[in-house]
Amino acid sequence: MGLLKSFFTNCANPQGRMGRAMLRFMNFGHAPLTNWGLSLIGIHDGWTMLDIGCGGGATLKRLLKLSNNALVYGIDISQESVAKARKVNARALGKQVFVSQGSAEKLPYEDKQFDLVTAVETVYFWPNLPGCLQEVGRVLKPGGKFAILVEVIEGDSVWTKVVDGMTAYSPEQLKKLLDEAGFVDTEIHRKKPSYAAIIGVKP
Ligand SMILES: C[S@@+](CC[C@H](N)C(=O)[O-])C[C@H]1O[C@@H](n2cnc3c(N)ncnc32)[C@H](O)[C@@H]1O
Repeated sequence: MGLLKSFFTNCANPQGRMGRAMLRFMNFGHAPLTNWGLSLIGIHDGWTMLDIGCGGGATLKRLLKLSNNALVYGIDISQESVAKARKVNARALGKQVFVSQGSAEKLPYEDKQFDLVTAVETVYFWPNLPGCLQEVGRVLKPGGKFAILVEVIEGDSVWTKVVDGMTAYSPEQLKKLLDEAGFVDTEIHRKKPSYAAIIGVKP
């Protein structure tokens, strides 16, 4: 595998040494998008929240800071991500932060468990996105929010050429998919250079 392909593939599913380096980088590199996106949500104290594709766990830490007495769950398909997210949240682990390995396709949570589900820079990699959105809807409480945060990439970018199974969605496509999955009041927010937040509500 070429170095470039290996680098990009470690964004989709971090593995080994390069995966660990990528997770460290993403915990810092995704901070501006994540801080902006989370500021749009209006997070309340005492919320139960889930971050899907939690990577190195920086978003879990942020969610915990934004809500007193919160419970924050993270899930990621990569064992390396789970290990890093647990390390980064070691102090609250098992008390307020819970990290599992698994896929957005089949979430190991009860129906109507969460006030908020977030997905930062990850939906491009989810197989069968419509099916995953049904799962997100299932685990959200009525009135709960789903926030997709992305850097908008073009369909013919180097990313989708190099990463197998990666799909570039426009914010409008993501909104349409949320509408079709039954979410309501879905809004698209944008910020330069290429940030987008697509936030919908479970009716
Ligand atoms: C680009 S990284 C973003 C990580 C983190 N959200 C952040 O902002 O730093 C994408 C993450 O999504 C995870 N991922 C990919 N496909 C997934 C799936 N089907 N279910 C759950 N996580 C997935 C990857 O393992 C990786 O950790």
